[in-house]
Amino acid sequence: MIPFNQPYYSGNEKANIATVMGTKVLTGDTEVSLLCEQLLEKKYKFKKVFLTNSCTNALEIAAMLMDIQPGDEVILPSYTFVSTSNAFALRGAKLVFADSKSDHPNIDEVQIEKLINSKTKAIVVVHYAGVACNMDAIIALAKKNGIRLIEDAAQCIDSFYNKRALGTLGDIACFSFHETKNIHCGEGGFIAINDASLIERADVLRNKGTNRSAFFSGQVKKYEWVDIGLSAIPSAISTAFLYAQLLDIDKVQLKRKKIWERYFRNLTGLNKSGKVKLPLIPDYASNNAHIFYLICKDKQERDELILYLKKNEIQAVFHYQSLHRSPYYLDKHDGRVLSNADYYSDCLLRLPLFYDLSLKEVDYISEKIIEFYK
Ligand SMILES: Cc1ncc(COP(=O)(O)O)c(C=O)c1O
Repeated sequence: MIPFNQPYYSGNEKANIATVMGTKVLTGDTEVSLLCEQLLEKKYKFKKVFLTNSCTNALEIAAMLMDIQPGDEVILPSYTFVSTSNAFALRGAKLVFADSKSDHPNIDEVQIEKLINSKTKAIVVVHYAGVACNMDAIIALAKKNGIRLIEDAAQCIDSFYNKRALGTLGDIACFSFHETKNIHCGEGGFIAINDASLIERADVLRNKGTNRSAFFSGQVKKYEWVDIGLSAIPSAISTAFLYAQLLDIDKVQLKRKKIWERYFRNLTGLNKSGKVKLPLIPDYASNNAHIFYLICKDKQERDELILYLKKNEIQAVFHYQSLHRSPYYLDKHDGRVLSNADYYSDCLLRLPLFYDLSLKEVDYISEKIIEFYK
């Protein structure tokens, strides 16, 4: 079976882990964590990076930093992972789901303005498949209305909007290093803070609500409970693994883009004949080759294609289920129909894409898809 995903290994992870084991200090915020944070800040121009245990973790910190109170409203796409919404639900926010664009799973910027009112505290965008939302329009809306902007950039490492790295455009951005991501540490992530006024509190929030960092840097005599918080600092073992991956990012990206482009070329005929739709990369967005997806005519066809590929030893998978239709939120949603989000829930199919996938395998998978549509 060709799996949907296989985690990348650089080959240097074990040596890095052995080195930190030798130091006999395995907690977080050690030298190797700092190396990862500094590399990310320098390469992508984030103001401040704190590594976390997951993107979920980072989103929870973001929601705390926004000081969301029960009843505050947060606008976010319905077509996203549950962590995007859960972080704000945990703070008592009312979630106002927006639809996706008709030609892309990303949030439809045109719809956001109608959803803003005096209770709106934040807009959360999700750059689906690492492809940027229409950020100029969204940044302008956030500024005009005095609303905070958060980027759920879980899939966005090494991706850009008009040459600016994703994750540098909002007040805060949250990234994932889960093993399904282009580079990873099994479970991991980071929060990028672009508004300097939020950095100090973010440090407290990730430190269980204590001023432990200030204590270690000699700014206070003892560390105390000063705020709410989470335990969100990854161990030196995770970050040693991550550092090996970060050093390989350019190599990984080159290979993933080759795979993505091969799929695109192989399946262009199906797109032209109207059998499937292929991913759209708008002019303002780069492609970090995180996901290769196609969009089928309807759910039945998508599900039949999944089975057909499975019979041919290929694991292809659907993606998010619209959150406004989810069992937890269905009776809390305001009833607006979000047909594009439902369309991507029902019709989108992701194909295998990982570093060690050969172009021969990509050709085989493409052939089987073309065969299905004959
Ligand atoms: C858009 C989005 N946000 C958040 C997450 C959660 O990431 P993590 O598994 O690192 O918590 C995911 C997971 O893939 C995601 O797709």
